[in-house]
Formats: sequence, structure tokens, C-alpha cells
Amino acid sequence: MSELMQTQAGAAGAFAAFDLTRVPSPCFVVDEVAVERNLAILKDVADQSGAHVLLALKAFSMFSLAPLIRRYLPGCCASGLLEAQLARREFGGEVATYCAAFKPSEIDQVIALSDHVIFNSPAQKDRFLPNVKATSRPVQVGLRINPEFSQAPVAKYDPCAPFSRLGTPISQLTTDALSGVDGLHFHTLCEQGFAPLERTWAAIEDQIAPYLNGLKWLNFGGGHHITRADYDRAGLVAFIKKQRARTGLQIYLEPGEAVALDAGILVGEVLDLPRNGMDLAITDISATCHMPDVIEAPYRPAMMGEGDVGTLYRFGGASCLAGDVIGDYRVAPDLKIGQRIAFLDQAHYSMVKTNTFNGVALPAIALWNSQTDALKMIREFSYDDFASRLS
Ligand SMILES: Cc1ncc(COP(=O)(O)O)c(C=O)c1O
Repeated sequence: MSELMQTQAGAAGAFAAFDLTRVPSPCFVVDEVAVERNLAILKDVADQSGAHVLLALKAFSMFSLAPLIRRYLPGCCASGLLEAQLARREFGGEVATYCAAFKPSEIDQVIALSDHVIFNSPAQKDRFLPNVKATSRPVQVGLRINPEFSQAPVAKYDPCAPFSRLGTPISQLTTDALSGVDGLHFHTLCEQGFAPLERTWAAIEDQIAPYLNGLKWLNFGGGHHITRADYDRAGLVAFIKKQRARTGLQIYLEPGEAVALDAGILVGEVLDLPRNGMDLAITDISATCHMPDVIEAPYRPAMMGEGDVGTLYRFGGASCLAGDVIGDYRVAPDLKIGQRIAFLDQAHYSMVKTNTFNGVALPAIALWNSQTDALKMIREFSYDDFASRLS
């Protein structure tokens, strides 16, 4: 049995006042005020510390918000060719692309779209360095290292776990491994505060010190929950300033979740209320199709209005998968068929992971402004979206 992760969702906030029947079901509703609040915090950290803070598209790719995001952040980090294309076409600014392994057929396009291309191994770097050198644009080369110092709370999200393929083990660093490299990247955290970053740095500082000369930047990856209320932002700012002064290098952070934390809900509808040893609620929200991390992480998403009293329901989707279970929630008064429900903190790592297994419909995407109450439908999906990925 895998460990259950704790949701980091805060309270419903402004969404508590949102009338769930205003949107089709299912539907992601993103509050642009909440996104802007997060962006303002991240920009403040960047301004105070001098760090470059990039949006990790893997977590939140809502490009209809690109004009807003670009007012606060200088660019994006991409996980490969397609995200690099999205970053360049929709967001602009800096693009830093890291992939566990680039393909020869894609590398020239990746280089053409990126300012930093970050390789996972010296072998990939050596293989594609001539391609980087052949371009007329000033593209910088990075190497992802594996600090071999586990801080992530769950093994599945720990790039420093034994036999990890993510990053070059720090014990394997050599001058040759770093020849042609402009920057070092590490990503070891997952929904974490400042202290684990500080500990990671303390664990690797002496090992990388001999190699810092000649580098231009350090990238501390993502997983920093900078916009969470309890994050030690003053500590982070002081730390970055100190490392900039000591190393003389530029510092990059690439948070994803922190940009969209507590900024979106997933609205659904109760379709049926059968019983089998307990009360069940079948909804048009599917864990496997709309919130796959519920099964993959796994975690139990917070539900708007759940309480300590009332009937306990096991919520699940309408797909054929027996394990398409969202979780058990106490609700009062009793649910009614047709009633709207909403899961909290779904803007990140849900919208980017949806799929149409079983022909389950994709949630629509709506943008809400919790200050003006303006609501805009950004996208609704149809049969064509389902069929366009099949043949
Ligand atoms: C290399 C890298 N950078 C950035 C991120 C973004 O992390 P988060 O959304 O947790 O901030 C991830 C997440 O997996 C990552 O693997």
C-alpha cells in the first residue's frame, strides 16, 4: 500500500461564495485574483532576492493567463519540446528546458526554443553540445545533479531515492562531466518549506564548490511552496541573497504548484447515490480521468463543505475502473442527485493531467474573478477532443 499524501489545500476561501451552478459540469474554475495573489508573492521574493522565478508549466499550463503571468514572472520552465513550444508561443520571456533524456529528432527544436537546455547526464550533454554550439542564439547548457540527499516526504516524489534516474549523482561529478556547462540544476523537493532547501544546500555545498568557478547560474528546481501561508519567505530571500553573494552566480527557482496554489476548484455533479455496505456517491468527476494524482500520489483531495458530522459517502467517478474512487467524505445534509460538489485546490497538476479514458468528458475551464464576480468560459470540450487523440 502506498503512503497517502496529505493535501496541502487551504480553506475554500473566496470559492465558498461561488455558486457552483454557474458553470457546466464538470468544470475547473480558476480564480484569477488568487493566481495574481500568488504571482505577486513570487515576484516579491524575486525582487527582494534577485532570483529568477520561472513558472513550471508541468504544474500549471493555463496559457489564457499568460498575459497576467508574464506581468509577474520572466518566463517558464519546460519539460521537453511541447512545453517549450507552449512557453515560447504563449508566454514568451525566458525558457529553461530540462528533460530526463532528449531525443535526437527533437533536440534542435528544443535548442531553438530555449535559453537554457538542461541535460540529465554528462552523456546527453556531450551528445548534444555540438548542436547547442551550432546555433547562433546564446543558449546556455545546464546539468541536473542528484544531490543524493533525500528530503521529499514520499519515495515516489523523491528524485534522490535509490536508483533514481533523475540527475547525475553528485558523487559522479568530475571536471569532464561539467565541461561546456554553464549552470547546475537540482530538483529535490515536493510541496515543501524553506528548511529542506537550506538542508540540501548545506549537504552539497562543499561537493560542488570546486566546480562553481566558470558557471553562470544555479537552478534550485521546484517543489518550493512559497505561496503557502506558513512558508518562510524571509528565510528564502536571505538564503538566495547569501548564495548570490558567495557564489557570484544567478539563482533560478522554477515553482509550479506555488503559482496556482488554492487558486482553482473542480466542480462536479452527483449522478447517483447507491448503497453497498456504505453510502456511495457517483459523480461526473472521475479520479482517474480528472484528478489522476488522487490515485497516483495517492492523496485525498479536500471537498468543499465536507464536515465532521453527517452521512459518510464514498465518492467515485462514472468510469469502469473499480479503483476510480476519490475518497470518503462526511456531508450534511444528505446529498441529493443532481447536487453540485467541488474539490479544492485543483488548478495545478489536475488540469494538465486530464484524459478521456472510457470516453469520460473533459472538464470545461472557466475563469472567475472573485473581486468583480466576472465569470468567463475559457474552453468547453466535445466529442472532437476525444476523437482527435484516437484513430
Ligand atoms: C525539474 C522540475 N522543476 C520544477 C518542478 C515543479 O515543481 P512544483 O510544481 O512542485 O513546484 C518539477 C516538478 O516535478 C520538476 O520536476
